[in-house]
Amino acid sequence: MYSEKIMELFKNPKNIGKIEDPDGVAKIENPKCGDVIELYIRIENDIITNIKFNTFGCAAAIAASSIITEMVKGKTLDEAMKITGEDIVHELGGIPPVKIYCSNLVVDALLVAIRDFRKKRSSAHLKKDSIGTEQY
Ligand code: FES
Repeated sequence: MYSEKIMELFKNPKNIGKIEDPDGVAKIENPKCGDVIELYIRIENDIITNIKFNTFGCAAAIAASSIITEMVKGKTLDEAMKITGEDIVHELGGIPPVKIYCSNLVVDALLVAIRDFRKKRSSAHLKKDSIGTEQY
């Protein structure tokens, strides 16, 4: 039922684990089954320099998590945000229709992690600005 690529990444996922003190983080639960995807990203100059995941889910969710980490490493945030569920399906050599939702969740997780990074960065700027204002 699964492609060779999915089985390969399910058995040997890439970039599994956690980044300490990440720049952006996402934790997404699949409402259909309760499984969870955690994604951690490190950003330097708007480029994703490191990304890791912990996915507690089916083979499709684990393989999709693994492949997206490989697809986005070295990409700018804007480039990474253009990745779609269809791109994931294509890279994995197809996904059984009942598992498409599981694989699409990882795209949502990436967007949530990027938004988390941008939110933290803008609140850091605000704090910096308010410190500067207080000094004058
Ligand atoms: Fe739960 Fe796929 S993530 S069945």
